[in-house]
Amino acid sequence: MSELGEDIYYKGDENYWEAYKEGRPRVPDSFFERIVEYHARHGGQFDVWDEIGAGGAVHTKRLSNKFKKTIISDSGASNIEVAKNFLGESDSYQFRIARSEEASDLEPNSVDLVFGANMIHWTDIDKTLQAVLQQLKPGGTLALGGFAVPLLLDEELHKLWLQVLHRFYKLLVESDPSAIRFFTQAGSSHDCIPFDTQYFQPGTIRIKLNERDGWTFRRCIVPPAFEESTPHLKSFGKDDEFIYENDYGWDFDADVTIMRKILESYEPKDDPVMEELWKQFAAALGDRKVAATWPVALTLATKK
Ligand SMILES: C[S@@+](CC[C@H](N)C(=O)[O-])C[C@H]1O[C@@H](n2cnc3c(N)ncnc32)[C@H](O)[C@@H]1O
Repeated sequence: MSELGEDIYYKGDENYWEAYKEGRPRVPDSFFERIVEYHARHGGQFDVWDEIGAGGAVHTKRLSNKFKKTIISDSGASNIEVAKNFLGESDSYQFRIARSEEASDLEPNSVDLVFGANMIHWTDIDKTLQAVLQQLKPGGTLALGGFAVPLLLDEELHKLWLQVLHRFYKLLVESDPSAIRFFTQAGSSHDCIPFDTQYFQPGTIRIKLNERDGWTFRRCIVPPAFEESTPHLKSFGKDDEFIYENDYGWDFDADVTIMRKILESYEPKDDPVMEELWKQFAAALGDRKVAATWPVALTLATKK
């Protein structure tokens, strides 16, 4: 887990975040519309929102125009610097170098919506939830997004792509066995996040998009040999609502260039085995464009 100000894994200078944007999905409007619609339907106000683990503020502008004030938070000092340069200074922005586990600098019960994309697995989830509850107004929303690796809608190519991803996962896990909590949280997607109905309204919505042919994020990333060491943790409440849908707005045409950008956005270690697997995949893909999509988790909960 990261220390305050420390730029872990995602050390963001401008170049890093530019490459990151290239290698991650073009998130369709429908994703943010679902969040806004849920928030409004649950009586949420649109004064202040806090984007936790915002990184280089890749998504911030997608929601900032809905609220009077935007808080941009990230544990990494250099990420916040990039976010500032990217968004520009404005009275409506407050930048915080802050771990999501920490909210004591924010006024209690003052935030209408907390949003975190692709970040909760990095954190101590219980402490993050406590900090979220501390800052949210009663009736406020927590929205979490997860969309990390694509799947190819061609069985043979998808198998070859998985070889690359699985090798990447194996290298990461084996290089830092102490980070097992991180890998277990990441591999469990949002399923491991408990929403205690003492603090959250019953009926957390757990949306999974684009799990075509059963290809969940977990199945894409966790190699079968690691099933036991990175267990699929589930902390579902009895009233949780599960929604499985396809959202074709996430579909894209995959070619060798974009697939390489996606891989590079994870800054993979030099590894001859992975390079060989990549070559096999790239050779099979050739100069074609092949339909692909991103499995997505969107989890929506309301503070009591
Ligand atoms: C994969 S990036 C996601 C960035 C952005 N939310 C997005 O979806 O593009 C993960 C971000 O989480 C941040 N992060 C990691 N641990 C954190 C923590 N404990 N508290 C707050 N941010 C954290 C990292 O610095 C990084 O910017």
